[in-house]
Amino acid sequence: MRPVILAIESSCDETSASVVKHGKVLNNVIASQTVHQKYGGVVPELASRAHQQQILAIVNEAMTLAGISPHELSAIAFTRGPGLLGSLLVGVSFAKGMAVALDIPLIEVNHMEAHVLAHFIADPKPSFPFLCLTVSGGHTQIVLVESHLNMKVIGETRDDAVGEAFDKAAKMMGFPYPGGPLIDSYAKLGNPNVFQFPQTSIPNYDFSFSGIKTAFLYFLRDQKLIDPDFVEKNKNDICASLQHHLVKMLLQKLSKASAETGIKQIAIAGGVAANSELRKSLKQCAEKQNWKIFTPDFEYCTDNAAMIAIAAHYKFMEGKFSALDVAPLANLAIGN
Ligand code: KG4
Ligand code: ZN
Repeated sequence: MRPVILAIESSCDETSASVVKHGKVLNNVIASQTVHQKYGGVVPELASRAHQQQILAIVNEAMTLAGISPHELSAIAFTRGPGLLGSLLVGVSFAKGMAVALDIPLIEVNHMEAHVLAHFIADPKPSFPFLCLTVSGGHTQIVLVESHLNMKVIGETRDDAVGEAFDKAAKMMGFPYPGGPLIDSYAKLGNPNVFQFPQTSIPNYDFSFSGIKTAFLYFLRDQKLIDPDFVEKNKNDICASLQHHLVKMLLQKLSKASAETGIKQIAIAGGVAANSELRKSLKQCAEKQNWKIFTPDFEYCTDNAAMIAIAAHYKFMEGKFSALDVAPLANLAIGN
């Protein structure tokens, strides 16, 4: 059977729906929540409410754009986790309601596996095995991908995610949430060699970003004692130096993993994969280390339902369906 699947993503602050027909993603409708900007981070209670308000319209739009009527659907897919529990519950409940009403199967998708599988939405697609650096607001992982449904985490952050380091550093400089894209744009105008930050030494392929966050806090405090307008005057160089440092930390571990596993097909995924310095430095690494690299389109880097839809397609093809009593899991790990 060649399935037509409606997929729903609601793990954090994006309400999204997508239809995948016979393995081809037809659309990717996303409503981003702006309500969090003034709080400097996602407020879980507000996120759940916004999902509740938006989900019906977003699903209707995806179905209308696809020209698909509900009775043509073969399954309903949803993000089971990881994510904010209240946000996940909205998507899970909506998906269950539709699956019961249409009497079709339900497919749960792991959000982090879906970020990796976003590479199979459009060409060029990696072949197996490949390594994927998955970098988002909540995760920083190096994933060894053996097949569509078989992947394992070989390195990850021991504390904060790199996206969180971007966002918290931005908040310390007084930028609105999410600050990652703003740091990226100011960095384009700055010199990455003006300010130095401490190196961390973490074994294996693991990462740590909490030390750099604290070091950055004290760096700003000390500089502001000398000049209260320090951030405003040096914004571009601060952003360029910090971003350069964070990207270097990511690529050092990715290079180590590639050298030791012998895998030269390298992909990046997740919101921070949109970062221009990461993309540029990845290309430079690829030239030096003879890598074949895969960088997803911007719309498939940050949270989206197209990646849930493509992941669901592979699960459908292998008959992996969920029971109707499936519950969301805030800390769902890859491979579970
Ligand atoms: O994957 P994602 O949309 O949501 C999570 O699952 O967390 O990632 C969001 C993260 C945020 O931390 C945001 O600041 C970061 O991705 N981000 C960026 C850029 N675009 C998004 N960080 C650095 N540079 C960017 N251009
Ligand atoms: Zn994500």
